[in-house]
Amino acid sequence: MYPYQLNSLEEYHRAYQKSVQEPEEFWAEIAENFQWKKKWNKVLDWNFTEPSIQWFKGGTLNITENCLDRHLADKGDQAALIWESNNPSESSVTYTYTELHAKVMQFAHVLQNNGVRKGDRVCIYMGMIPELTIATLACARIGAIHSIIFGGFSAQAIADRLDDAQARFIVTCDGAFRGAKDIPLKSVIDDALVGNKTIERVIVFERTRVPVSMLKGRDVWWTDEIQKVEEAGNPFFPAAEMDAEDILFILYTSGSTGKPKGVVHTTAGYMIWTNYTFVNVFQYKPGQIHFCTADIGWITGHSYIIYGPLSAGATSLMFEGIPTYPDAGRFWDIVDKFKVDILYTAPTAIRSLMGFGLEHVVDKDLSSLKVLGSVGEPINEEAWQWYNQHIGKNNCPIVDTWWQTETAGVLISNLAGVTPSKPSYATLPLPGVQPCLVDDAGKEIEGNGVNGNLCIKFPWPGIIRTTYNDHERCRQTYFSVYENYYFTGDGCLRDEDGMYRITGRVDDVLNVSGHRIGTAEVENAINMHTGVIESAVVGYPHDIKGQGIYAYVIIENQHGDAALTKQDILQTVSRVIGAIAKPDKIQFVSGLPKTRSGKIMRRILRKIAEGDTSNLGDTSTLLDPSIVDEIKSGAFKFFRMMY
Ligand code: WTA
Repeated sequence: MYPYQLNSLEEYHRAYQKSVQEPEEFWAEIAENFQWKKKWNKVLDWNFTEPSIQWFKGGTLNITENCLDRHLADKGDQAALIWESNNPSESSVTYTYTELHAKVMQFAHVLQNNGVRKGDRVCIYMGMIPELTIATLACARIGAIHSIIFGGFSAQAIADRLDDAQARFIVTCDGAFRGAKDIPLKSVIDDALVGNKTIERVIVFERTRVPVSMLKGRDVWWTDEIQKVEEAGNPFFPAAEMDAEDILFILYTSGSTGKPKGVVHTTAGYMIWTNYTFVNVFQYKPGQIHFCTADIGWITGHSYIIYGPLSAGATSLMFEGIPTYPDAGRFWDIVDKFKVDILYTAPTAIRSLMGFGLEHVVDKDLSSLKVLGSVGEPINEEAWQWYNQHIGKNNCPIVDTWWQTETAGVLISNLAGVTPSKPSYATLPLPGVQPCLVDDAGKEIEGNGVNGNLCIKFPWPGIIRTTYNDHERCRQTYFSVYENYYFTGDGCLRDEDGMYRITGRVDDVLNVSGHRIGTAEVENAINMHTGVIESAVVGYPHDIKGQGIYAYVIIENQHGDAALTKQDILQTVSRVIGAIAKPDKIQFVSGLPKTRSGKIMRRILRKIAEGDTSNLGDTSTLLDPSIVDEIKSGAFKFFRMMY
C-alpha cells in the first residue's frame, strides 16, 4: 500500500543512509507515488543563505487530487472524515471519500462565485466542524492560499493577521461550541473588520444559531451559496494546476518578537512531508481510524487531521469538543465508540486527564488502540508512564513526535513499533532530517552525551520557505542565527546512544498547554493597558500547562485596587491576543532588573518565578541590584490568579 513505509529498524537505517547520501534520488522515488499533472525537472535546489529552497521544481499538481480524487476508484465508499460533535447527544457525521470530494468541489464553486481566484488569501476562522476541513480543501482546489486562525484568537489578533496577509475573503461561523461555552465567532470577525480595507466577502456557516449581524454586500450565508451551486448543476470543479512551489497556506505563529509571523508552506514539499511522516511515524495501515485531537487552527491539525491522513487515503477523526466535557472520559468514549486505532494528543491533555483519576478510564474499551502519539511539548516521564499503562495498556508504542509549525511535519520521533522508544526522548531523526547541536558560537558539537542548540543542516521537503511578505524576517529568525543551519529555537540533548531529547525553547518563546506564545507579544499586550508603565514576562513550570505565564508589571498607581487592576490587565491581554495568553500570575513591582545597557535580565526573573531564589547568579552588572531583593520578597505576597 505504501511502498515507502519502513517496517523494520534495518529498513529505517537503510532509508536514513540513503536520504543523506542521495537525497534527490531518495525523494524522487517517494514522489513517484503521488499524482502529478506535470513531472518535476529538478528534485532540489537550495541554499540556506538567502534562504531559497525549492523542491520538485517545475512539477505541477493539486494537493486535493492527491487527497481526494485519486482515492475515489478504490476507496470511494471508505470514510475519509468522521466528525464527532462537542455535544455527545448530537449524531456524528461521516463523509466517505466520494462525499468529501463532492463537498469540496461544491464549496470551491462557492468560493469562485464569490470572486476567489488562484493566489488570493482566504482567512478561515471556524470551529472544529467538517465545514472547516471542506473550506480548507476548497481553497487548495482553487489554488487560493488559506490562512486558518485558531478560534481562540481575539479580534485584534485577527485584524493584524488579515492585514499582514492582505486577505480578501473570510470563511467563518456564527459561533462555535467549546465544552459548555459557545464562542461568538462572527461577532469577533465583525470587530476585527472595523477599519479593514481588504476583505470583500465573508461567508458564514450556521453552527450555533446565535443571532449575528450580516452586512449587506459583504456577508453571505454558506447554505444560500451552496444552494445556488446546486441549482446551477454541473458539480465538477477542476483542480487548479499548481506549481510545486506555489504557496499552499500561511499559518501565523509566535516568535521572540512582538509580531506573529506568517509561516509559508508550499504545495508539493508540504504534501510529501506530511504524508511520509504520517505513514511512517504512526505506521498507519489501511482501514485504521486516526484520531488527532489537535485543533485545525494549529499546524498539528493542518498536517495530521487534514493533509497527512487524507493524502494517505486514511480515515481521519475530527472532534469538536474538549477533553473534559461533559466529563474527563470524553476521549476514551470516542476511542471506544469509533474503535480508534491511533490516538495523537498533547502532554498537557494527558496531564490534565491524569488529574481526574482513573474512574473515567477504567470502564472504557480501549482495546482498539494500536499506537499512541504525543506532540507539542516535552512529555514528562510521569505522563508518559500513565499514557502507556492506562491508555495503551502497556501494549501500544508511544511516538514522541518533535516538530514545529515551520517544519510542516514530524522531524524527530520514533516510528511506532519499528524503532525504539525511550520515555521523554523524541529519539531519532526521520529520513531526510539531519539534526546537529551547536554551541552559542555556532560551532557544531560532535559526539554523544552532549547538549546544545538544535539546528538542522539540510533541507527536508516540508521546511519553511519564507515568512509571508517578509523574507528577511525568515532569514534572520531561522537561517542567520547560526550560519548555514536552520535554527529551531530549541535546546536539545543527544545521549550516549545518539538519541535526541528536546529540553525546551532557548529563545523567548513560551509553550503554554502546547501553544506557542512569545513573551514579547504578551508584554506588548500588557503594556497596552493605560495604567501600565512596563512589564516583563517569563515562563515557569506548571503542573498541567507545562509552562505558565508569569508577568512582572510596573503600574502607575501603586496604591489602587490591586485585584481590580489585575483583572483589567487580564482583560486587555484577552482583547489584544486571546484568552490563551492571559498570565497565570501577575506580580506588581516598582522596577525590573536591568543591565546598565537597559536589557532586562530574564534569567533572574525566571528563577524567581520558579520559586528558586537561592542562587540568582551574578547580579553585579545590574543597574540597581536592590530591585532583585524587592522582587524576591514581593514574590511571596503577590495575589495569585486562578482560572
Ligand atoms: C515544542 C507544534 C518537546 C518545541 C507541532 C517546538 C516539543 C515547539 C515537541 C513548536 C516534543 C513540539 N517534545 N518539545 N515532542 N513537539 N515541541 O510550532 O519547543 O506549535 O519548538 O508546533 O513545540 O511548536 P509549534
